[in-house]
Amino acid sequence: MRAFNIADLRTRARTRLPRMVFDYMDGGADDECTLRANAQRFRDYELTWDALRDIAALSTATTVLGCATQLPLVICPTATSRLFDPRGGERAVARAAHAAGIIYSCSALATTSFEDIAAVNPGPKWFQLYAWKDRGILREMLTRAKAAGFTAAILTVDVPVAGNRERDLYNDFTVPPRVTVRTALQALARPGYLCRLWSTPRLRPEIVHDVMPAIDGSIIEFLNRQLDHSLTWQDIVWMIDAWDGEFAIKGVSTVADARRCVDIGATGVWISNHGGRQLDTAPATIDTLEPIVQAVGDRAQVLLDGGVRRGTDIVKALALGARAVGIGRAYLYGLAAAGEAGVARAIALLGDELRRDLALMGYSDIKSIRRDSVIAPHEARHKK
Ligand code: FNR
Ligand code: LAC
Repeated sequence: MRAFNIADLRTRARTRLPRMVFDYMDGGADDECTLRANAQRFRDYELTWDALRDIAALSTATTVLGCATQLPLVICPTATSRLFDPRGGERAVARAAHAAGIIYSCSALATTSFEDIAAVNPGPKWFQLYAWKDRGILREMLTRAKAAGFTAAILTVDVPVAGNRERDLYNDFTVPPRVTVRTALQALARPGYLCRLWSTPRLRPEIVHDVMPAIDGSIIEFLNRQLDHSLTWQDIVWMIDAWDGEFAIKGVSTVADARRCVDIGATGVWISNHGGRQLDTAPATIDTLEPIVQAVGDRAQVLLDGGVRRGTDIVKALALGARAVGIGRAYLYGLAAAGEAGVARAIALLGDELRRDLALMGYSDIKSIRRDSVIAPHEARHKK
């Protein structure tokens, strides 16, 4: 495949998807400041190297929330994968993750059931849920996820309401798409996509459907109806108890919230702003990492996602104390570009970049990356 970086996969995804579907994946909230900042701020951190180190044997393996992984890279939970690849969907992503030896996370809004995902991915996998009103639904989801072999639960807390995605408004876009003149014209411009969509079962949030068969309206409407606007920290303690295993809280941006996570018993603190899809002008995740690691790093593993597009981004996050980074759009571009092979390509590109960067920096093992290999924007340029 002629894709030499994640940006190439994005270009391919754009040519394969109807505009509204591409925009839903690619876009963010309001003016997309945070969406852009997540990726751009990584570039404001500089890397240094140690020359003439023994780098003959490189190791990128680690464990995250009790799971072994070949790369410090986790597949982020993202809704409705079959929208981007109607045939493969979540199964394509879960297979590619397993083949690469990395952890797959499944969204509560997946378009494939737990069991179908587990059937193609016997490896480590996590399940993400939202803070919904209906405890019965959540409890049943947790039970089913555990029975299907999911090993960690992730609670996403940066969606108290859905974000304002203006590209979706301009495109008349909903999940699943409804037919309007605008959506019809955009869809007709991608006949290959329409064929793939029409020759496969109807898009449905299978996991939600399994626990609550009658949902009407769009997935986002459902999400909004189910979101519990009065929920606070103490209301989620039961979830951690009910799961009784590795439990991470995703969507943390401040030291205070990170402390609250560990205080109520979370084993993972997942720094994220939902890829810039929720509160716009929230800080880039990389800028919030170090203080959070300093505050809770001895009590929980800290993960980070948002804007990871290069191996150097991964190295920077690890140097500043993240246990691993999550990727969202990086693999979704691959999924849209070429299904399972595209996801595999995205993971391989990032893995190759990471190994090359380690070698260039004089490291043979990701576990030995030192803080002083990174010059943060607030540090003097020539300090070192
Ligand atoms: C998401 N994200 C997300 N997060 C979550 O916890 N549950 C979900 O269902 C979704 N759905 C979703 C759909 C799409 C299309 C995108 C792009 C993202 C957020 C995701 O897990 C992750 O935090 C971001 O994608 C990370 O930023 P990057 O890597 O996309 O820049
Ligand atoms: C999104 C929601 C579904 O980011 O989490 O689109």
